[in-house]
Amino acid sequence: MKLALTVNGERREVDVPPNTSLLSLLRDDLGLTGTRYGCGRGQCGACYVLADAGVGAPGHGARAVASCLLTADQAARMEITTVEGLADGTKLHPVQQAFIDGDALQCGYCTSGMVISAVALLARDPRPDETSIRDALAGNLCRCGVYGRAIRAIRRVAESS
Ligand code: FES
Ligand code: FES
Repeated sequence: MKLALTVNGERREVDVPPNTSLLSLLRDDLGLTGTRYGCGRGQCGACYVLADAGVGAPGHGARAVASCLLTADQAARMEITTVEGLADGTKLHPVQQAFIDGDALQCGYCTSGMVISAVALLARDPRPDETSIRDALAGNLCRCGVYGRAIRAIRRVAESS
């Protein structure tokens, strides 16, 4: 099945089997391996991407979606931003930088999904309180338990905006 998708602001053409998940397409066909496979069932958040992000403004108007549950042809009707598309050239997105500065990761497997959830949250609510941040991260499972540091990192971004 031939499809054209907008990923990280670029039009990409792919030829994939029917019912290919967006997650497989991103990782296997486009080489965007920052989006992780965790459960494959929409339950861990490792595969989150932004859907409907405005090109050039990652996170604007977007929501975090599980790319393991979205088919490639569904995604072809949206604009998709992955963790690789958040940076502005060599300058990391403020949420990415805050996670690094705040040491908000251990093994890092969940990190791209958490960052995506945080970017989506801050786009719809630039000054979220702690409850809102916790709610936004509710779908992101972290085996290493970095939730406290992740919440503090997101708060720092909100407070500096
Ligand atoms: S891989 Fe777990 S939610 Fe998609
Ligand atoms: S940092 Fe290891 S799973 Fe979250």
